[in-house]
Amino acid sequence: MRRPLVAGNWKMNGSLESIKSLLDGVKAGMSDVKQAEVAVCAPAIYLPAVQQQLQGSDIAWGGQDVSAEASGAYTGEISTSMLKEFGCKYAIVGHSERRAYHAESDDTVARKYAAARAAGLIPILCVGETLEEREKGITESVVARQMDALINLEGVAALADGVIAYEPVWAIGTGMTASPEQAQEVHAFIRGRVAALDAGVAEGLRILYGGSMKPGNAQELIAKPDIDGGLIGGAALDAGDFLGICTAA
Ligand code: G3H
Repeated sequence: MRRPLVAGNWKMNGSLESIKSLLDGVKAGMSDVKQAEVAVCAPAIYLPAVQQQLQGSDIAWGGQDVSAEASGAYTGEISTSMLKEFGCKYAIVGHSERRAYHAESDDTVARKYAAARAAGLIPILCVGETLEEREKGITESVVARQMDALINLEGVAALADGVIAYEPVWAIGTGMTASPEQAQEVHAFIRGRVAALDAGVAEGLRILYGGSMKPGNAQELIAKPDIDGGLIGGAALDAGDFLGICTAA
């Protein structure tokens, strides 16, 4: 039995003030969340404030990206040990916005995943196709390529303590959610690909859906057998909406 995970990805949003009221709101509603594990991934500069507010609560936190390098001359980068120092449990790697706007390759993302895992963080590996790729009928080969970069680098065992987030790029921030059937189809493909290598790893692997998930569609998505929670963008910026998804999971 996989415990669902609902992780908010705030992206480049918020201020000290808005984060405080958002987290106060989420904390106040946590008693209604019966099953899901809840996490928020904050802009790195706000992680100390998030840590201060969430320490001792049931809500975990994490980074939105992390460097594959341990330390050194990498201006602007944040290392795994820095995330750890501020109590992070999770690190998102390979979000489609990082792939698109920062030219992150599958190999770079796989290295980030490996570094995060080696440091004791739980990496959330984002995969997903663009609209053009879906229309060409190559969704599965795109997702397979993104997964295989990691599996070839680290072996399938690397997924034993990680998370995959399937985020169709065309559904991110667009209001165009994948239907539960469309999402389930790709989630089943992901799990099947892992199962072909290691059935036990596949059974335990949490695969989140991301892309315009809201309180109104979360339940039917997460009810699908291979959807184990969500990676939430826009709806994670509102305490009521975020809690609505957490309670539905
Ligand atoms: O990381 C989160 C995803 O990109 C989903 O974003 O819920 O705003 O569509 P969204």
